Amino acid sequence: MRDMSYAAVMARKNEIMKASMGMDYNDFIQSPIAFDYERMMRETGYGLEDIVRIQTETKVGHTPLYELTRLTEEVRKFAGTGKGATILVKDEAANASGSFKARRASISAFEARKKGYKGLAAATSGNYGAAVASQAAMRGLKCIILQEVFDSRGIGQPEIVEKSRACEAYGAEVQRLSVGPELFYQLLMTLENTGFFNASLYTPFGIKGVETLGVEVAEQVRQRYGKNPEAVVITHAGGGNLTGTARGLLAAGCDKTRVVACSVDLGGLHMASDTDFNRKSFTTGHTGFGVPFATWPDRVDVPRNAARSLRYMDEYQLVTQGEVFYVTELLTKLEGLERGPAGNTSLTAAVTLARQMDRDQVVVVQETEYTGAGKHHNRQLSFARENGIEVRVGDPKDNVPGKAIVIPERLEQVRGKVQDMDKLRLSYLKNAAKAHPVEQWTEGDYAFLAADLKKDVAWVKSAIAGIEKN
Ligand SMILES: Cc1ncc(COP(=O)(O)O)c(C=O)c1O
Repeated sequence: MRDMSYAAVMARKNEIMKASMGMDYNDFIQSPIAFDYERMMRETGYGLEDIVRIQTETKVGHTPLYELTRLTEEVRKFAGTGKGATILVKDEAANASGSFKARRASISAFEARKKGYKGLAAATSGNYGAAVASQAAMRGLKCIILQEVFDSRGIGQPEIVEKSRACEAYGAEVQRLSVGPELFYQLLMTLENTGFFNASLYTPFGIKGVETLGVEVAEQVRQRYGKNPEAVVITHAGGGNLTGTARGLLAAGCDKTRVVACSVDLGGLHMASDTDFNRKSFTTGHTGFGVPFATWPDRVDVPRNAARSLRYMDEYQLVTQGEVFYVTELLTKLEGLERGPAGNTSLTAAVTLARQMDRDQVVVVQETEYTGAGKHHNRQLSFARENGIEVRVGDPKDNVPGKAIVIPERLEQVRGKVQDMDKLRLSYLKNAAKAHPVEQWTEGDYAFLAADLKKDVAWVKSAIAGIEKN
């Protein structure tokens, strides 16, 4: 009998990971901080053409890119003279399972099948569960999804309850947990007991799958406008959406395109808190994931995270819950597209960007997601009211996460908030110093950190010296 206590299972973590992915991270790891990121990505063995072929087999990719003409017109009404860039949206809801997460799951499912695994397991409360379940179904594999659904009262967040339904509809078994630290333990036990493939969100297979999204954006914009997009806005949580898309844009030659991250501001709410769990109306694309993952990516269920957003991010915007709800309605009423909250988060930031950008420029919102049932904004607003949150119309400046959702009266009030990128980078460096004492950092560590922060080594050295002094 194997010891299945928490401590014993956690102690077998590396062994379980190795068996469940067929990948040894020790091949890439150079220090407690540094690892050979590009080699890890290359050694998946999948080139862009392979990925396009694999994804086409399972109804992923080749999604339409729409010009949002009516929304653009509305922005131009209050943008200054010569301002008001064209807003485009890539309709990722058209992927099997209804989001870009299908790209992320597709290569894991293919790899699992190729290596003879009988099924896939993943810990996720988001669209990714439905994506893994849908890709597993098409590859004839079993699937187990572990979700954090409930608070301790047994009340499920409506969006996550909808995801449970979707996973089961695609034939997966769903293990539903309440908020707490057991998720990873439960995943390890499941992987060990079933011998399934670990379809983690953060493996190189997942991130390589998203690269095609960036490539498609580049090709579609070029074909229609004869140039690369000036800006691409990307909803940011764990960072895979941004990392994969930005890598794809670079692979397609868009090295001047501004990569803008966007999250819903949930400042003050704690993600692991039982009481805060149901006080938020967004279950992804928010700062509760976006900030910790940007400032320390290696907090995941694999030894090193292939999603490293600060490597690729030029700017980070925050928007309020009320602003996103408002823009969600506008997308429906003006453009005839009823879509879910995550993609509409970056659409909200795109309104702010378009207002400041020149009229002949284009800004691309790189995804949409399906909506319906608990994902729908009307359900989220009534859930917020049921939880004592004030919902009213007014100035979005008055939003208070967990207390008040203020829906703007006019599009002009949608403003977003630009974050200080260097503050994020310093926070990352503090986390790096906790993982590995600064005195022991080698030139290799500095070079890795510089690449991970989109800065040079001199910047990293002076920044860490400043931190150490204070
Ligand atoms: C539709 C959608 N958009 C964006 C995101 C954010 O992606 P990431 O966690 O890779 O930053 C998610 C993740 O849950 C998602 O489901």
